[in-house]
Amino acid sequence: MLNIPEDVHQSYLRLKSELNQHNHAYYVLDDPSIPDSHYDRLMGELQAIEQQYSQLRTPDSPSQRVGGMALDSFSQVRHEVPMLSLDNAFSDEEMIDFDRRIKDRINLDSSQNLIYACEPKLDGVAVSLIYQKGMLVRGATRGDGSIGEDITANVRTIKSIPLSLHGDIFPELLEVRGEIYMPRDGFNHFNKKALESGDKPFVNPRNAAAGSLRQLDSKITATRPLEMCAYSVGQYQGDQKPDSHFAMLNMLGTLGFKINQHIKQVEGIEALEEYYQQLAKLRDELDYDIDGIVYKVNDFKLQQRLGFVAKAPRWAIARKFPAQEEMTRLLDVEFQVGRTGAVTPVARLEPVFVGGVTVGNATLHNADEINRLGVCIGDTVIVRRAGDVIPQIVKAVVEKRPEGAQPIVFPERCPVCQSSVKRIEGEAVARCTGGLFCGAQTKEAIKHYASRKAMDIDGLGDKLVDALVDNDLIYSVADLYELKLEKLINLERMAQKSAENLLNSIETSKQTTLPKFLFSLGIREVGEATAQTLANNFGTLDKVIAASAEQLLEVEDVGPIVARHIVDFFRNPDNLSIVEAIRNSGVQWKDIDQTAQSLPLKGQTWVLTGTLAVMSRAEAKDRLQQFGAKVAGSVSAKTHAVVAGPGAGSKLNKAQALDIQILTEESLIAFLENL
Ligand code: IVH
Repeated sequence: MLNIPEDVHQSYLRLKSELNQHNHAYYVLDDPSIPDSHYDRLMGELQAIEQQYSQLRTPDSPSQRVGGMALDSFSQVRHEVPMLSLDNAFSDEEMIDFDRRIKDRINLDSSQNLIYACEPKLDGVAVSLIYQKGMLVRGATRGDGSIGEDITANVRTIKSIPLSLHGDIFPELLEVRGEIYMPRDGFNHFNKKALESGDKPFVNPRNAAAGSLRQLDSKITATRPLEMCAYSVGQYQGDQKPDSHFAMLNMLGTLGFKINQHIKQVEGIEALEEYYQQLAKLRDELDYDIDGIVYKVNDFKLQQRLGFVAKAPRWAIARKFPAQEEMTRLLDVEFQVGRTGAVTPVARLEPVFVGGVTVGNATLHNADEINRLGVCIGDTVIVRRAGDVIPQIVKAVVEKRPEGAQPIVFPERCPVCQSSVKRIEGEAVARCTGGLFCGAQTKEAIKHYASRKAMDIDGLGDKLVDALVDNDLIYSVADLYELKLEKLINLERMAQKSAENLLNSIETSKQTTLPKFLFSLGIREVGEATAQTLANNFGTLDKVIAASAEQLLEVEDVGPIVARHIVDFFRNPDNLSIVEAIRNSGVQWKDIDQTAQSLPLKGQTWVLTGTLAVMSRAEAKDRLQQFGAKVAGSVSAKTHAVVAGPGAGSKLNKAQALDIQILTEESLIAFLENL
C-alpha cells in the first residue's frame, strides 16, 4: 500500500465533503449548487485519488453509488422494531371517529385539541435504513413487517439516501424509515425509453420503484431514477431523542435525509380537513404519486400511551384520496383523425371515478400499444389517471375476458373521408392520406388556426368550427374571411349578436405578426418557437415560402424533418392558394427587419420564472423572441439571463448558484424599451 502524502489526503477529504454537499443540494434539497459538468470534474478527481490510494475508498465515498456485484438472492433480515401498517379512513366522519377515539383513550376533553403532524402518503415502497455510528450498514424492505429482505446494495445507489449521517452529533444506532419512490418525470421517461427499445414498461411509478429495488444486480438499480423521503424512526440508541414526530423529522433533515416539503404541524380536527382540501388540490401538480395523507399524533409520549392494535398504531391514520387506478370495461374503440391526419385509437370506457374525476375515454396511442396491451373490446381494463396526463389503459385483465370479446382492428381507411390510412416505416402513428380533402383534418386545421396562440379569433371555438364545416359554410381557413352574417344566423343556436361578434373578431384578428401567422398554418413540427425562428431568420413570408431545404437547415433548431415538412407544405398548390386567399382578405403583419441590429438578443437563451405582474408570461416570451432570444423552461450553464418574479423557486436558486444574470420584471421592461 502506498503511503498517502498529507496534501493528497487533505484534498481527498475536501473533495469528498464537497461532493457530498453538492449531492445533498441536488438530490435532497432539489436545489443544485453547481453545473453538472463541474460535479463530474470533482468526481473524476476523487476517483483518480482513490485509484492510486485505494485504502482511502470508504463505503460512504460518493464514488460508491454505482452498484456492485450481482447477488444470487436477497437474504432475510429481522426488524427489531416491527414495521407497522396504517388504518385507512375514507371520509370526514371516519376522521372525526379517529380523533374522538384518541381523546377518549387519553381522557382528553372533547373540546380540547390534539396536535397532529400531517404528511403526504407517498405511493412507493417502505424501507428501513440502519445507521451504526453514523454509517449506513443495512437497507431492508418491510416484508411482512417482522421479516424483510436485505436490499443494502440497492439502497446505496439512491442518491437522496446519505451513505453516512451529516454532522458530528448523531445517535449510536439509528433506524430511519421512509418511502422509496420514482417521481413521475423519471417514470414517464423510463417508460418512453422502454417502449422505444421494445421492453416492457412499468404499469405505474409504485411498481417501477418496487421492480427497481427487487433487482439482484444493483448496477441496474443505480440507473433507475429513485428517491427516498424519510418519515419515521425505528430503533434509536443515543441521547437527546426528540420528543415529537415533527422534531424527529427536523432532526432527520439535519442528518441529511429528504423530508417531504408539504409536511405540516396542525392543531385540531378542522385543520386536518383543511390540509386534506389543500393537498387534494395540489395532488395533480406534484411530481410524484401520493395516495392519501398520513396524520400522526405529534407527541411521542402520547403515541406511546396510545399504542397499537394488531399491526397498526392507534395514533396514526391514512386518509385516502380517490384511487389513481380503477377497473372498468372497454366498451368500444373509436379512431380519431387529428390535424396532421394521425389516426388515434380512443377507448370508450364505462365511466369510472379515477384520480378525482369521472373518466369515460382513454387514449390507446397507436397500433403498437394495442398489441402490447393485448386488449379486446369487452375486456375489463385498468385505467390510470395521475397528474395532468390524459387517462391511460395500463392493463387488460385477461382473466376476466368475457366470451365474445372482439379484437381491435385498426382501420385501413380513414373513418372520416375514406382515404387510405398509411403508416410510414419506423413511425408509430398511422395517418390518413386525405390531406385537406379530409373533413377531420380540415376541422382540426381551422381549430388550430383560430386558437389563442395562433390567429387568436375570439369566439371561434371547437363546436362552432364543427358546425361551420358540417353545414358547408367553410371548407378551409381562407373561407373564414368570406363568412356572411345572413348565413351565420341560420346556424342552430347562433344569435344575431354572437354572429356579429364573431365577424368582428375575425376582422380584428387580421392584424397579426409573421411568427403567429406561420404558426397558424399548422405545418407539421412547426411550433411557436420554430415559427418565431423562421420569422426572425427570413423576415418575410415570401422568403420562407421560397426557402429550399438546405436554406432551412441553416436555421438554428431546424432539422431535416422540420425542413422537409416546411418545403412540402409550401410546394403544395392547395396550401399556396389558401395562403394567397388569406393574404388577399386583408390579413397582415409587419415584416421583420433582419439587420443584426433588430435582433440584439440573437443566440441568447432566457428563462422566465415566478409571477409576472405587468406583462403576462406569454407576452414577455413574445417580446424576447421578437428580439431573437430563445425562451427556455429550465436553467442551465448556457442560460443568458433569468427573469424572476415573486414566487420564483428552484430556477432562481440555480441561476444564483450558476452566477447567471437575474432581472426583475421591472428591469426587463426597462431593458426591452432600451433595445
Ligand atoms: S408512517 C406506523 N408515513 O404507507 C406508521 N407511512 O400503510 C407507519 N407511507 O408501509 C408508516 N407515506 O409505505 C408513514 N408519510 C408516511 C407515509 C407512509 C407512505 C406508506 C408506508 C407504509 C404504508 C402504511
